[in-house]
Amino acid sequence: MRTIFWKDCLWLIDQTKLPEKEELIPCRRVDELVEAIKRLAIRGAPALEAAGAYGVALASFEREFSGLEEIRQYLVEKAKLIASARPTAVNLSVGVEKVLKRALEGNSIEEVRSIALREAERVAEEDIERNKKIGGNGAKLLEDGDVVLTYCNTGRLATVDWGTALGVIRSAVEEGKKIRVFACETRPLNQGSRLTCYELMKDRIDVTLITDSAVGIVIKKGFVNKVIVGADRIVRDGFFNKIGTYTVAITAKHHRIPFYVAAPKSTFDLSRTSEDVVIEERGAEELIYCGDKLLAPKDVKVYNPAFDFTPLELVSAIITEEGVIYPPFNF
Ligand code: MRU
Repeated sequence: MRTIFWKDCLWLIDQTKLPEKEELIPCRRVDELVEAIKRLAIRGAPALEAAGAYGVALASFEREFSGLEEIRQYLVEKAKLIASARPTAVNLSVGVEKVLKRALEGNSIEEVRSIALREAERVAEEDIERNKKIGGNGAKLLEDGDVVLTYCNTGRLATVDWGTALGVIRSAVEEGKKIRVFACETRPLNQGSRLTCYELMKDRIDVTLITDSAVGIVIKKGFVNKVIVGADRIVRDGFFNKIGTYTVAITAKHHRIPFYVAAPKSTFDLSRTSEDVVIEERGAEELIYCGDKLLAPKDVKVYNPAFDFTPLELVSAIITEEGVIYPPFNF
């Protein structure tokens, strides 16, 4: 099943409910979508690209308009709102822009709507195609018997389907290679334990769950021989990804095992460097509570960045739909 699709309105798998249940939620209004993005019901850079794209289509259908200028202005306004729902993954604004640009070329309300929906569907379809290509390109770097450590969730759920870093693992398995995976929990929202383990077990791919703090011992003991992660934004000097990725990259470098990044070209933002990107900081409650249970004193001071930056010197290769890029990364 796709993570996000259009059927009369926009539908998403509510990822906050996984692994307990696979529940679809409808979005009939842009503010419902923005809320879903903020609470991570839909998440992962490529899935956010599709969400941004469909969001513009949603804006065009969510109310009546008196004329062409009104719908155009409305789309521009809603596009800004959607793109700012999460600041770090560049794909969200890329998806918004791709559809907005084309939709504004429509010469009637109906035409704007049909272009917006057609373009959003195209963005979603293209995501699946490029993930399969990333998978095929990356699978060449994996050998039969490899044990791969991965971080966060970069699978079907982080994309429209298939996945980026997990897509590489899926493609290698599909080619008949025996690959085992170590998945990090990825505190505080546990995308690794909740989503990656769920996806891999569903596909019968051998996965072992570890705490984020077990990365050092797992790599040192030689339990894994490669690392593959995704990316939320690749800039000129490195990449942003889920908080904790930097620590994994340093550990992999220290123990001389390859550290691969898998991401579509839309994740590249080469007009920027690490200095220019806002790292999203999330609420203290993510660390203080587990449901209703207190995990820390209620009033403790908290620093909760959702992403960190890993410099290119720690990266062995970047796998994209167009091929594999190796150091010195002359983008
Ligand atoms: O906060 P999230 O869950 O949206 O984080 C994004 C991610 O899933 C990861 O950082 C991922 O490694 C890159 S997106 C395939």
